[in-house]
Amino acid sequence: MLGKALLAALISLVAASATDPYSRDDFPPDFFFGAATSAFQVEGADDEDGRTPSIFDTYARTAYGMSGGYGHKSCDQYHKYKEDVALMAKMGLNAYRFSISWSRLIPNGKGPVNPKGLEYYNNLIDELISHDIQPHVTLHHSDLPQALEDEYGGWLSRRVVRDFKTYADVCFREFGDRVKYWTTMNEPNIFVIGGYDSGFLPPQRCSTSSISNCSKGNSSTEPYIAAHNILLSHAAAASLYRKKYQGKQHGFIGINILTFVLLPLTNSTEDLGATERAKDLLSGWFLNPIMFGDYPDMMKKNIGSRLPSFTKTESNIVKGSIDFLGINYYYTSYIKNSPQSQAEGGGIFADVAVEMIENIFNATAMPRDLQKAVDSLEQSYGNIPLYIHENGQVTLRNSSLDDWPRVKYLHGHIKDVLDALRNGSNVKGYFVWSLLDLYELLGGYKISYGLYYVDLNDRELRRQPKLSAKWYANFLHRRTIDPKVIIELKKNAPMPSLHNVI
Ligand code: FCB
Repeated sequence: MLGKALLAALISLVAASATDPYSRDDFPPDFFFGAATSAFQVEGADDEDGRTPSIFDTYARTAYGMSGGYGHKSCDQYHKYKEDVALMAKMGLNAYRFSISWSRLIPNGKGPVNPKGLEYYNNLIDELISHDIQPHVTLHHSDLPQALEDEYGGWLSRRVVRDFKTYADVCFREFGDRVKYWTTMNEPNIFVIGGYDSGFLPPQRCSTSSISNCSKGNSSTEPYIAAHNILLSHAAAASLYRKKYQGKQHGFIGINILTFVLLPLTNSTEDLGATERAKDLLSGWFLNPIMFGDYPDMMKKNIGSRLPSFTKTESNIVKGSIDFLGINYYYTSYIKNSPQSQAEGGGIFADVAVEMIENIFNATAMPRDLQKAVDSLEQSYGNIPLYIHENGQVTLRNSSLDDWPRVKYLHGHIKDVLDALRNGSNVKGYFVWSLLDLYELLGGYKISYGLYYVDLNDRELRRQPKLSAKWYANFLHRRTIDPKVIIELKKNAPMPSLHNVI
């Protein structure tokens, strides 16, 4: 007969294997587990205390409208930051990724610093630090001051490099005693594709697009010019940080890109080649200059003189300009060779003769690809410290507080991060997009990724935890996960994809 103790031990063994396959303790103690937002998407108070509009404000008014009866309030984090930091602390986050609104800190993009803007970010940073939450700060998240767009075309002009550097200087000087993780740009690769090639993101410029009707732009030149100025601006800020601040502030500077797992649609040689070209375009466009000092050879060959070139001095300042790489990862994309579209003027995908078919299998597949995204970057660029800056699951806003698809998605992806770590990769942190249901870049208030639901009809904009917030908190607080939850997690229910919800 089994003794009681043995029986109890067996039950707990079964419980252990039936419960979570991993725990917080499997990760290094200094690993960052956080959540992310960006200034325009979460702050509200868009015209308060001296802030001026950004290109994201302009886009929001035309693309999706500030619908939802909430005008420019979004989540009102500008006024509710203390409440939000308390939520983060309660969940057990040790990091928060947010961005600074350039046009709040320096209205119109240049000139005097706005004391109210300074005060807000100082307060937010102090509140985070007092709760042992590390601020991870982004300087540009799709929100260049509209004044600079109007004055000289924003990222299309070389003049932006000096203004961005001055803005970065203010941030390092004012906040760098407490902020140790600086990201210059959020997803510049998608920003230039969406903003200047297809026109579905701010500043909505394009000439050849099947999805947008832009009033101005040139899809065959502008994406490359904007990308070049973004790289030079990033490098100018990074070099300033290293020369003037890093020695005394002991922080780190990096950049962020959106990364995909890119798979050939078929095993044909053509699709395999197209997949390599797509990688060169989607990651290499930014990472090759940063890691090796120049654009990928394929881009130079296919795009010719429309691709700006680096002088020796520029190449030297861009090369090696990051201490870490931030990646946003959402899904897998399939790549198809598309030779017929190689004519000049067809946009950037046509330039490299590829067609991107987004997550066609995502609706049924379990999300098990983040590890591949990490592996593929490390194969190309070495073992650079990596932060998963954004990862999350879309649902319709208001769908349910019982957001099982999101719990499953996060559960699967955090396991991927652990597998990547066990495989020797240099991942240092993971941030869920997003902390709150905020104003989404694609879809406005119609869709959401939040751990917390924010009811737009509630005057107080009360934050309500979804199941995903509770699951994340349990994981971070090392609480035992209810076996029923695990059974649910194992069910192979379809995952919603972006296309299903917008
Ligand atoms: C990323 C953006 C972020 C958010 C998510 C869903 O591309 O960086 O602002 O909208 O997508």
